[in-house]
Amino acid sequence: MHDSHHVAVLDFGSQYTQLIVRRVRELGYFAKLYAIEDFPNIGKPGAIILSGGPSSTSDENAPDLDFEALKSFGVPVLGVCYGMQLLNIKFGGSVEASDRREYGPASLFPTELSGLYENISASSQVWMSHSDTVKNLPAGAKVIASNQHGTPVSLQWNECFFGIQFHPEVTHSHEGNQILKNFLDHANDLLPFVIDDFKREMIESIRATVGTKQVVCGVSGGVDSTVLAVLLKEAGVKVRAIFVDNGLLRKDEAAVVQANFKRIGVEIETVDASEKFLTALAGEGDPEKKRKIIGNMFIEVFWDAVGDAEMLAQGTLYPDVIESASNAKSKASVIKTHHNRVPKILELQAQGKVLEPLAELFKDEVRALGTALGIPEDILQRHPFPGPGLSVRCPGIVDRERLHIIRECDAIFIGKLKEHGWYDRVWQAYAGLIPVKTVGVKGDERSYEWATNLRAVVSEDAMTADWVELPAIILRETSHKILNEVKGINRVLYDISTKPPASIEWE
Ligand code: XMP
Repeated sequence: MHDSHHVAVLDFGSQYTQLIVRRVRELGYFAKLYAIEDFPNIGKPGAIILSGGPSSTSDENAPDLDFEALKSFGVPVLGVCYGMQLLNIKFGGSVEASDRREYGPASLFPTELSGLYENISASSQVWMSHSDTVKNLPAGAKVIASNQHGTPVSLQWNECFFGIQFHPEVTHSHEGNQILKNFLDHANDLLPFVIDDFKREMIESIRATVGTKQVVCGVSGGVDSTVLAVLLKEAGVKVRAIFVDNGLLRKDEAAVVQANFKRIGVEIETVDASEKFLTALAGEGDPEKKRKIIGNMFIEVFWDAVGDAEMLAQGTLYPDVIESASNAKSKASVIKTHHNRVPKILELQAQGKVLEPLAELFKDEVRALGTALGIPEDILQRHPFPGPGLSVRCPGIVDRERLHIIRECDAIFIGKLKEHGWYDRVWQAYAGLIPVKTVGVKGDERSYEWATNLRAVVSEDAMTADWVELPAIILRETSHKILNEVKGINRVLYDISTKPPASIEWE
């Protein structure tokens, strides 16, 4: 893709690195993430940002970079957290290792409200997450901001090189975007991030990679795979779109997906493999094992249906790539196994047979791409649905009875959200099952049944999420309908956990 005057973000392994890319794109500039091993092969950037990372600069194998090469780009450089500490050492200063981690909010006190801190309020909240701190400054370096204790948290070494100890990319740094903008204002001729350009380049790159080969893609009916299928169609590629019913879908999902694909003019082949999946899952209660069973079974069923396809396209997004640390070069730690990173896929990937055109995009960017591709908004606004389906909403053992209960509760909850105009106001919502029996009273009888958990969250990118303060009427009506209509449930709970520390799904 573009290699001139983009913003290059060098990944030192922080969980927040991709958020830097996202923020820069939100500011309207084209940003790209690079593994540190790829440096200095980063094209011709107009600005460079060094991310944070889990290492200490004093670690034996601490990630490093060629400082002479960095300087030779002659463009503004911003070091964030680890990036700042590394720069301080490169300029001849030192860093003090500490076994105490500073984690959480701090107040920012810039020495001057200009340059990096133009239009920033005094004592603006910033987010810290680090253990090492800068000790000695090299000659010529100056402190440009401190925290409430007077500790330096931002340095400038020369006209071009800046450092910040805090994370401007997370929303807890209230004016983080403005600080990034101020930094980018030091750069010249940055490429704008325009989704239409992106679309055009993606289509060209797909054509160049695929040529006359046939591409098979799995479609789930979600935004990502739908956008992917339409993108491939637009690129004029020979596509076979295969929809696997894994028996873990929501109520009436297969019919909805078929109808939606008809509307966008992509033909899909449906494979009903529910029996196979449920048999393979029988009796398994361990979340990671369940994920692996589903992922492997998907590949088995899918490739069975595919035969000998030449290429596979997947709708993998940026957060999926980062969360499963699937980019072999990424230093971010593995959080959970995503089903598009099972061994068979990794094997195909090594053979260059996997196409993941959306892997640099965030969810809302995929939606914007979908709009640019002319996909109807109601399809694009569908809530995300996980690959392993209802299994991750059914802690412990998965069977037909539990799935049926989840489907009924979920359909009622989603129906109520739509009825009250809240479906589009939440990022993702669902009902799951808490497979613990409690005592209740139904009619005149004692009941001993399970509970359902309702979850509705807002999120920007699924990396963090907050629960939604739904109007009580929605919760009341949903609860009433579920308790009256769904056999097997005598308790309805609303999940008020943020991510982190919880996750959006239950497994
Ligand atoms: P968590 O539970 O990790 O979910 O907070 C974040 C977002 O990712 C979805 N999710 C998945 N999507 N394959 C997917 O395609 C998966 O294995 C998977 N696990 C979670 C989840 O629904 C939420 O939107």
